[in-house]
Amino acid sequence: MEISQELVDAINDQINFELYSAFIYLSMGTWLEEQNLGGMAHWMEVQYQEEFAHAMRLYRHITERGARVTLKTIEGPKAEWASAHDVYADAYHHELLVTERIYKIGNIADKLGDRSTQSMLTWFYNEQTEEEANTMGIRDKLKLIGDSIPALLQLDAQLGTRPPAPPIPAESTDP
Ligand code: FEO
Repeated sequence: MEISQELVDAINDQINFELYSAFIYLSMGTWLEEQNLGGMAHWMEVQYQEEFAHAMRLYRHITERGARVTLKTIEGPKAEWASAHDVYADAYHHELLVTERIYKIGNIADKLGDRSTQSMLTWFYNEQTEEEANTMGIRDKLKLIGDSIPALLQLDAQLGTRPPAPPIPAESTDP
């Protein structure tokens, strides 16, 4: 089945949004680094790499379907936050937005009966559940920690152990 231009346009927009997400997390990382929260900065660098891989997964789907990827200007990210809690609260809200956008692409694929795109998106549905849970969990821990510096440093050390992002998939549906 030939992929429709409506779907190609929506996926191209999402490639841009995933790259924007990568920029946001890298920006959060630089801010955290400046606050001497190196573990959280590391966590954000891994997240940056994951977002780049998400963009490439969508990129592969478009090229595998014989269509053309269109790269667009990436919006500049926010650069200042009041606290680590606010950074992760923003990250959680950003992930909710990503999920909403992915679901909208799924709705277009449903409408067009494009099962290939639906199959590719299944990975994203699961990934978004995980991304929301991770950012919400860290935000909630930071709320509990409040002004306790020892607890903040303990969480920072824990987040510094986040393993590197998996390699960029060769195919859009690689696990
Ligand atoms: Fe690519 Fe964090 O969603």
